[in-house]
Amino acid sequence: LRPSDLRSRLQHIDDRREALRSTLGPILGHADRIVWEVGCGHGHYLTAYAKAHPGEKCVGIDIASDRVARAERKRQRARLEQLHFVRADAEDFLSVAPPGCRFTAVLILFPDPWPKRRHHKNRLMTAGFLSRSAAFAEAGARLYFRTDHEPYFREAEAIVGSHPDWLRADGAWPLEEPTVFERRAPRHFSLVAARR
Ligand SMILES: C[S@@+](CC[C@H](N)C(=O)[O-])C[C@H]1O[C@@H](n2cnc3c(N)ncnc32)[C@H](O)[C@@H]1O
Repeated sequence: LRPSDLRSRLQHIDDRREALRSTLGPILGHADRIVWEVGCGHGHYLTAYAKAHPGEKCVGIDIASDRVARAERKRQRARLEQLHFVRADAEDFLSVAPPGCRFTAVLILFPDPWPKRRHHKNRLMTAGFLSRSAAFAEAGARLYFRTDHEPYFREAEAIVGSHPDWLRADGAWPLEEPTVFERRAPRHFSLVAARR
């Protein structure tokens, strides 16, 4: 990569994050406590969750704008004021969310599995992601991870198992409402962790 290309790539990330900061301004207060769903797809799960938990503020993000648009239509039909869908990358969100904002729960449901070894670096669930999410998670906050890809599940178990900020926990699933991908999967694996 030439230095000028690197500069323009970094500038692009900065611009994108600045735009996200503005989008989040009216949505996310400085001390808000939120349920955060990463890779919310069409927003099916979080809409059902928000309906069942009217007192909880819920923010779902996804990088695919068409999916976020569909999620947003669901939200409007359901008239749920406490629910928000935003087009955003997970790392961008973590870098611009107000520092006083607290996650009460983090939901990662059927993340892209990136099955080829050379693509594993694209997986969402990494030690770095867990550390950056932990910075926003209140003590006792739960992280819910579900996938139909067993190798990814085993890797997630290992990463959580050796992470200083999260502890594997027994715990009920917050709401059994199958996601779009869950309906297509013959089976799935679930992991619950608690913020230490
Ligand atoms: C396999 S789909 C699962 C969607 C939904 N959770 C479900 O279970 O039906 C994974 C979703 O994660 C989104 N995604 C992938 N990487 C992401 C990232 N870095 N930040 C936010 N969303 C991401 C994709 O656009 C896609 O909608």
